[in-house]
Amino acid sequence: MRALRAGGGPDGGILSPETEGCARPEREFAFLPLGPRATLPPVSDTGKPVKAPPEDPPETKSGKSAGPPGEKPVDAKGGKAAETMTESAPGAAASAPSAGTADARANGAAAGERTNGEQIEILDAQGPSTLDLELDLTSQQKIAVDRSLPVERRVEAFEDIVESDVGDTSLSRARNLEREIGLRQIYLKFEGDNPTGTQKDRIAFIQARDALRRGYDTITVATCGNYGAAVALAASLSGLRCVVYVPETYHTRRQQEIEQLGAAIVRVPTDYEGAVALSQERAAKDEFYDANPGGANTSLQLRAYGEIAYEIYDELRDAPAAVAVPVSNGTTLAGIYRGFLSLYRRGRTSRFPRMIAGSSARKNPIVNAWEKALERCEDLDPKRIHETSINEPLINWRSLDGDHALEAVRRTLGWAGGASDKEMTRLSRMIREKQGHNVLPASTAGFAVLLEHHARASLPGDRYVVVLTGRKS
Ligand SMILES: Cc1ncc(COP(=O)(O)O)c(C=O)c1O
Repeated sequence: MRALRAGGGPDGGILSPETEGCARPEREFAFLPLGPRATLPPVSDTGKPVKAPPEDPPETKSGKSAGPPGEKPVDAKGGKAAETMTESAPGAAASAPSAGTADARANGAAAGERTNGEQIEILDAQGPSTLDLELDLTSQQKIAVDRSLPVERRVEAFEDIVESDVGDTSLSRARNLEREIGLRQIYLKFEGDNPTGTQKDRIAFIQARDALRRGYDTITVATCGNYGAAVALAASLSGLRCVVYVPETYHTRRQQEIEQLGAAIVRVPTDYEGAVALSQERAAKDEFYDANPGGANTSLQLRAYGEIAYEIYDELRDAPAAVAVPVSNGTTLAGIYRGFLSLYRRGRTSRFPRMIAGSSARKNPIVNAWEKALERCEDLDPKRIHETSINEPLINWRSLDGDHALEAVRRTLGWAGGASDKEMTRLSRMIREKQGHNVLPASTAGFAVLLEHHARASLPGDRYVVVLTGRKS
């Protein structure tokens, strides 16, 4: 194991907290080691005991073979209740959403006929199993939304859809980016592969399933756009009604998409945090399922994001040196950390990745707490938080899962930082040009913070995973 000292050094010393511009105590840094488990701090979130993970690691949906990591690319946010809010009527429910609806081939016949009429078996990997799966998914969609059917059947059908269409996103080595940046072994975890283009699908679908199973009729959430689109799609595929709260001033380009999916949009004259409060109040009053972060579903959400860690492990067969994540409420980052925690406890990985949190500069409590060495996240002054079309997904004056994320960053000896709109836009362009991924600029915040560190204190050769989301509009 290579020990790396704060402040950097000739051996590629990295990760110096003082170079982050804040008064944090100097620490010895080392990637959490291959060696004794004793070096891993006992883990709990916000002081609560962490539930022991199941005995065996969850099978990833891919069922991909665990090949050795190679050089080649691998596939693999309390305002007051607003009297003036308007609720637009739900549009016509979306016509059969696209999940799993590729055209079925009519004749994927398993059997062929000899010229003499004798039937023979044809072993054709593109044949009947593909056809059956597609047909199966189409019928599963019909079952999942059919309110006349027993809930158990609908849940089962919905699970098939989730399994086929959510998660299992690609992890690919970004060699062209590496050459441009001068840092080797950058892997892009492209959450744009999810049905609405972001990791939000992971928590939207798992909560829709939970809502369905528990007999809810309607699901509600507040959003800057991405999460609303994800919940709207999950609701439309599970036969749930959906009510999405959106701050009036937000630029979100996803409103139309949300409405087309049959969800009701409530534009409210508040900020994001105010919209969350209104959505939560509505949930309590009308017995809607509350899918907002920071509530009763936190552990479900963290578990869903933990899948990202399992998928990374599936490809790399160990934890990378670091995972860079865009943060707003911090749920995504905290969930990925939980996944790696579970993998480490099971002895699957030899170390922990450093968790790197990136957000809009000076507009996020997690970054603020890190930079000021605060013990916990503190609310920022709402008057100083201004959204732009670029930073919208990331800004908060309150991070609803901020303490979970802050703890993850600290325990893994990671770090946090801010990125400007300009830098995020530049990076998204570079990723498109060099790697062909159309990514949401805001999702490059973690990457920006990783690169900023590399520019100041050269990072050592190791594997770095960057979580990115797609841009659908
Ligand atoms: C594209 C994108 N990336 C990252 C985030 C931040 O996720 P979290 O709130 O889990 O920190 C969001 C939040 O909406 C988002 O839309």
